[in-house]
Amino acid sequence: MSMTDRDHVHEQYRTEVHLEVRQSVWHPTREGRDPATEALAAVVAAAPRRVLEIGCGTGAFAGRLANALPDAEVVAVDQSARLVELTASRGVEARVADALDLPFADDAFDAVAAMWMLYHLPDLHRGLAEARRVLRPDGILVAVTNGDDHLGDLRREAGGAPLHTQFSSENGEAALREHFDVVTRDDLSTRAFFADHNAAVAYLASWPDDVTWSLPPFEGPREYAGHVTVFVAR
Ligand SMILES: C[S@@+](CC[C@H](N)C(=O)[O-])C[C@H]1O[C@@H](n2cnc3c(N)ncnc32)[C@H](O)[C@@H]1O
Repeated sequence: MSMTDRDHVHEQYRTEVHLEVRQSVWHPTREGRDPATEALAAVVAAAPRRVLEIGCGTGAFAGRLANALPDAEVVAVDQSARLVELTASRGVEARVADALDLPFADDAFDAVAAMWMLYHLPDLHRGLAEARRVLRPDGILVAVTNGDDHLGDLRREAGGAPLHTQFSSENGEAALREHFDVVTRDDLSTRAFFADHNAAVAYLASWPDDVTWSLPPFEGPREYAGHVTVFVAR
């Protein structure tokens, strides 16, 4: 399947099940740095009055934003009705919307966050142009994504190949520079812990690939390396 196929993306996120399987394995870098926390710090440092998260998933980051910025208005959108419902249950203003056609006026936000979602857009540059449009001229976009070799060892061992996407640590900066004047980046080596072979197989099965995985059996827990980048564009 294509990471950008609308129907498949819709089905993949119809419920929170696949997303929560994948999120459950991740741990910070050896230095204790976590991508979402770094992204949160970047948004908070901009002291925004209005913040938009696009592709909010279950709303964990939007909830953290609302807590960290009690005087700001936090709005979250996602294409999945169920994930919007979960986000709203955290007390965040959330609605179903397509990142390619945001239902907001020009210059409406001081910050936009796009966490692990730009790789799903059928038209990446339209999505980036939409983020730019709803941002004030001095606003920031914080975009988090994975590198090409994210979990590469696991995927290779299981008979697949690393996942190369349209918005990655490697190609994300160039894409952002087409829409923003200044782009900074923070690269983090995160770690995935699997309690046992079954947990690693469940993770692979949750990811939207066409691959038939065959991970050779192993005993006990395993750790695999992740590669994540937090981009800040203005
Ligand atoms: C990998 S999940 C990440 C969720 C959340 N940002 C997180 O970090 O946990 C990708 C999210 O983007 C959403 N999404 C994908 N394409 C979208 C689109 N065109 N418009 C809005 N949301 C979209 C999905 O429904 C899903 O919630």
